[in-house]
Amino acid sequence: MDKIYFTVNGERYNVSGSEVTPNTSLNDYLRRDLGLYGTKAMCHEGGCGACVVSVARIHPVTKEKRTVAVNSCLVHILSCHQWDITTIEGLGNHKDGYHTLQTRLANYNGTQCGYCTPGWIMNMYSLQKSSSELSKRQVERAFGGNICRCTGYRSILDAFKSLAIPEDSVQDLEDLHELKCKSDCNKKCSDDDWCLIEKTSEDLLQLDVVSRWYKAFNLDDVFKVLSREGTDNYLLVAGNTGKGVYPNTVEPRVCIDISSIEALQDINTDDNLVIGAGMTLTELMSVCDQRAGANEDFSYMKTLREHLDLVAHMPVRNIGTIGGNLALKNRHHDFPSDLFVLFATIGAGVTMLDSNKTKTVITMKDFMHTDLKNKIILNVKLPPLSQKNLIKTYKIMVRGQNAHAIVNAGFLFHVDKDNRVISSNIVYGNISPDFVYATETENVLKGQNLFNENVLKQALLKLEEELVLKDYSPEPSPGCRKAIALGLFYKAILSLNPSVSPRYKTGGDVLSRAISRGTQTFDTDKALWPLNQPVVKLEALAQCSGEATYACDRHSSPRDVHVAFVLSTICVGEIVSFDPAEALKLPGVVTFYTAKDIPGLNSFTPTDIPWVSADEEILPRKRVSFYGQPIALIAATNHKLALKAAELVKVVYKESKNKPVLNVQDALAAPDKAARIREDSSLTPTDRGTDVIHTIKGKFTVPDQYHFTMETQSCTVSNTRRGLVVRSATQWMDLVQAAVSKSLNMPLNSVTVEVSRIGGGYGGKASRSSLIACACALVAHKLNRTATLVLPLTHNMAAIGKRQACYTEYEVAVNASGVTQYVNLSYYSDNGCSFNDSAASSITSMMSSLYDVSRWNVKGYSVLTDKASNTWCRAPGTTEGAAIVEHIMERIAFTTKRDPLDVKLIHISPDHRDLKDMIDTFKIESKHEERKVEIAKYNSENAWTKKSLKMSIMSFPIGYDGTYPVTISVYHVDGSILISHGGIEMGQGINTKVAQVCAHTLKVPLENIKVKGADSFISPNAIASSGSVTSECVAHATVKACEELLKRLEPVKQAMNEPTWAEVVKAAFEKGINLQVNALTSKLDSLKEYSVYGVCSAEVILDVLTGNHQILRVDIIEDTGQSLSPSLDVGQIEGAFVMGLGMWTSERLLYAPSGRLLTDRTWTYKPPGATDIPVDFRVTFKRNSYNTNGVLRSKATGEPALVLAVVVVNALQETILAARKEFGYIDNDWVHVDTPYSVENILKGISPKTSFYKLN
Ligand SMILES: Cc1cc2nc3c(=O)[nH]c(=O)nc-3n(C[C@H](O)[C@H](O)[C@H](O)COP(=O)(O)OP(=O)(O)OC[C@H]3O[C@@H](n4cnc5c(N)ncnc54)[C@H](O)[C@@H]3O)c2cc1C
Ligand code: FES
Ligand code: FES
Repeated sequence: MDKIYFTVNGERYNVSGSEVTPNTSLNDYLRRDLGLYGTKAMCHEGGCGACVVSVARIHPVTKEKRTVAVNSCLVHILSCHQWDITTIEGLGNHKDGYHTLQTRLANYNGTQCGYCTPGWIMNMYSLQKSSSELSKRQVERAFGGNICRCTGYRSILDAFKSLAIPEDSVQDLEDLHELKCKSDCNKKCSDDDWCLIEKTSEDLLQLDVVSRWYKAFNLDDVFKVLSREGTDNYLLVAGNTGKGVYPNTVEPRVCIDISSIEALQDINTDDNLVIGAGMTLTELMSVCDQRAGANEDFSYMKTLREHLDLVAHMPVRNIGTIGGNLALKNRHHDFPSDLFVLFATIGAGVTMLDSNKTKTVITMKDFMHTDLKNKIILNVKLPPLSQKNLIKTYKIMVRGQNAHAIVNAGFLFHVDKDNRVISSNIVYGNISPDFVYATETENVLKGQNLFNENVLKQALLKLEEELVLKDYSPEPSPGCRKAIALGLFYKAILSLNPSVSPRYKTGGDVLSRAISRGTQTFDTDKALWPLNQPVVKLEALAQCSGEATYACDRHSSPRDVHVAFVLSTICVGEIVSFDPAEALKLPGVVTFYTAKDIPGLNSFTPTDIPWVSADEEILPRKRVSFYGQPIALIAATNHKLALKAAELVKVVYKESKNKPVLNVQDALAAPDKAARIREDSSLTPTDRGTDVIHTIKGKFTVPDQYHFTMETQSCTVSNTRRGLVVRSATQWMDLVQAAVSKSLNMPLNSVTVEVSRIGGGYGGKASRSSLIACACALVAHKLNRTATLVLPLTHNMAAIGKRQACYTEYEVAVNASGVTQYVNLSYYSDNGCSFNDSAASSITSMMSSLYDVSRWNVKGYSVLTDKASNTWCRAPGTTEGAAIVEHIMERIAFTTKRDPLDVKLIHISPDHRDLKDMIDTFKIESKHEERKVEIAKYNSENAWTKKSLKMSIMSFPIGYDGTYPVTISVYHVDGSILISHGGIEMGQGINTKVAQVCAHTLKVPLENIKVKGADSFISPNAIASSGSVTSECVAHATVKACEELLKRLEPVKQAMNEPTWAEVVKAAFEKGINLQVNALTSKLDSLKEYSVYGVCSAEVILDVLTGNHQILRVDIIEDTGQSLSPSLDVGQIEGAFVMGLGMWTSERLLYAPSGRLLTDRTWTYKPPGATDIPVDFRVTFKRNSYNTNGVLRSKATGEPALVLAVVVVNALQETILAARKEFGYIDNDWVHVDTPYSVENILKGISPKTSFYKLN
């Protein structure tokens, strides 16, 4: 039998195929078979970057060994023949020392929860391997495929950019391999260099997996296999990244790896430039770079190169091929392929090879309708184009990188010397499945002067008629896509026309992004160090080396089982019956459980736990409450098998005849409205003014948001002699322990919950993690085997609730100066299917935390809808409260034509003097007024790009509730200290802060202290880590425990002569003194509430023609008190702000009428990426600030800055209003814009009219 071989971190492995399944990815193999848990995974579709590893492989044509980053989740293990794979473990560790990248990222505080960290480092490592000379721009643009939900990216980018060299001394990245080992090189290469390798055996390899896997080294072999195996169900595997776009629903019977076929990766010229279809997109970019400069007729390749930079992201481009991309387009006509658009624009041809070895060259349009069965895409032929061919291509996306096109387009105009169009190609993607060329518009242009305004008008009219868009929900609406398509045509003409009016000029550009930068300004008092010292996180190096483990990073034994949920496929109704027979037939499927199998209380939210108000069923006995609800469980011997089996369970439902209620507006109109709405909070006015000049009515929605933790909900449960050990990714041990115990009818002392850390929480792993723990524990308990449950992203998004959306209706009356006379306002918070975790009451608290609300009449409701029970999400309630008030202040300002800040200032309660001072300083330091004048000038001079500068302010109320235990043990031999506490380390740096507080209080070096993960034995009854205050509360308990310890040590110390810490400890031990102390922060401590003040401004620019925007600069000043740990607090502020940006701009949860969540993948749900953050991001802590309440003079930082992010909405709203004026709208009326301020909603707000598209 044939075998493939590869190395991982220098060790060689052979695989014959029998040890892996048809769907074993490199990621599965690394984690499951080799136990290399440093490589993480989340989305399994190339969309998050958690799984990136570095691969050195031989190029089939040049025989060079090149190192690239790849997504290990996309690579099939059998594709790895002759690869040298390096994982994070291969770089460095605590024993052998760390790699520079690991220490650099740690020192820049570029890790928070750390789950994304190995992926970032491995991407950077591969980048460095490809060049020792990287520019900052190259570094910054290389991380489109790496998502980090915690940090806000700035610190990571700074860390990696610190390794770059100045811009002008760098070679283009895609060119670099050309500089490396050539065949005539005599240099002796080190392992790290690219080098030529010996030609290896090139016989067809056949591996016996359950299906068949072949590795072909030439084209003949491919057809040989196809004729032997048949063509009914086969897959050519080039980069295998296609499954990241269209997951393989049925595993192919035969796979043929074509990645080493030389003939597919060759490049040559006939009249055309002939590029092998097996060439990767990274190599194609390199070819574009070389050819664009070398030959005038191919200078258009510079345009292709720029566009290719927006395709997917670097790890996908490193292995994804041209042929693979085109084949996806061939199979799925709705795939918005950029390559197809580019090739169609330049009139490229595709060469097909069939089994008779006949080559046929066809046009791109014909290619769409060619049957690819038994054929190979051999190459693409790029034609030479003279300088009289004017070309522009565009891609409009929902975020800066790693997003498919909302609309992509290419324009090629072949003109004569008088700019008359001889011929043209006008190409659009994502219009309708078969749309390629706008032929009728091309005809209109023929013979006409391209830069004549009347011609433009005629062309636009024809284009408007010709573009008939298909609804591709959840893609933006046809109306939005059409507006973009028309805007792009106009944009192309503006950019190609050398003599357009200067006011229209910037309309021809796409928003170009400068290299981002940031400043972080804070005081630090050295006298207090290590308290208030900007230290590196304690776990940072462990995270950077992949040594930090998470709930499911543990080796499973063959007896272990993996659990998957069966999810409901109706929204509301009843379960009539289950039939798991098909699922149970699969070898390796162990069992199937439903609600009937739960021995105890069927609730993952038992109501005797604080903050919980309603029981929610672990698995429904009968009633289904939302689409995607977990309704049963499958256990199998591996994760993918369990998921597959879960899909095979047949369920008979009795579906409710009522239309699913999917948002607040539906609920307000529902026949059972009364049962759905609960009044949770109100403000009663004590005053009402009578000077009513303006009455403003409106509505406003604060959007929902998926938490997007990089570690999805996960849990492992083992049976031990002391009962169940539950390793849960939870923010709330107490709830998990109680829910698991009660559901299994066990006493609480038989269930131990352990949490070393979690890979992001943001509230999503507070109450919701208990569902996963209960399900997993049920299986472990019943089977008496260790069970693991890791939710795949789609299940996590469907089954778990999100941030509550909040819909508001209001009427506000003001006098001529904008002073409020009365406010009538109702808000409705969408709780999903249960009232648990309601945010409604904190919305009112936030509203009244800053402004005088004596004239406000507010009613706040929680509303039940037929969706997963929504839950807290970073700054719940406060985000909504602040956004609603900010919105109202903006509306008053708009109506009364006053500066919004002035309107805010007249309404601020008098007791916020400190905030007013902060605003004054902020305005001066950020040059607010001067910049506003510049912006007004810019807007008057530019019709199609608009800027705005806005400010948001906040007073974020902090209060305390719950219990937070801390235990400190001191060891007599060396005086070292170990702490365990009831807070959960989720990236906020609680362990580091606690260690700093302990070191400060005991006056010992920070290095003496370690903090271990939480567990429910050492820290019983701990409340959820949430609400920004856990670090403070645990710090407070730490101070108390340290003081108790010092009290015990004092008599010993007094009896000694200036002893060292270790000497006192030793002496105390010898006297029999207990060297373990514990303490608790609880309501008995009477910690006092306080406010966190913040001021923020954001400067944005909007591309009016496409709805794209960029955040040019953000300044934040936040009152952090005397920060316990300034670097960590900077990270909290930046991360929270960027999470807020995502909520307000690019993230969108869209449901089908059936209740199914449509945006449940990284392909469709887009949190901000590294190039979506402010280009210039300045964070300052209020100077000389001491919090007289709170703990150790500090203030909380985890959530407040998210609230400030609403500034972007206000700024974008202003740009929309400015844009509308260019279209002739007379804006006396406010324009309602739906949230989030996505491309779609922005364009809807602008309502562009092509009649205003002019040249002069
Ligand atoms: C996260 C992510 C983001 C992406 N973003 C974009 C984007 O913005 N724009 C865009 O255009 N694309 C995007 N893509 C798609 C990406 O470009 C393709 O996945 C990639 O080019 C496919 O190449 P591959 O070699 O991996 O194909 P594979 O996955 O190996 O194959 C895909 C299909 O093509 C067939 N095939 C492969 N080679 C040949 C050949 N030579 N002849 C005949 N059939 C062949 C296979 O049989 C298979 O059916 C994205 C993909 C991912 C995963
Ligand atoms: S797990 Fe591979 S990219 Fe997300
Ligand atoms: S540190 Fe990046 S996701 Fe948490």
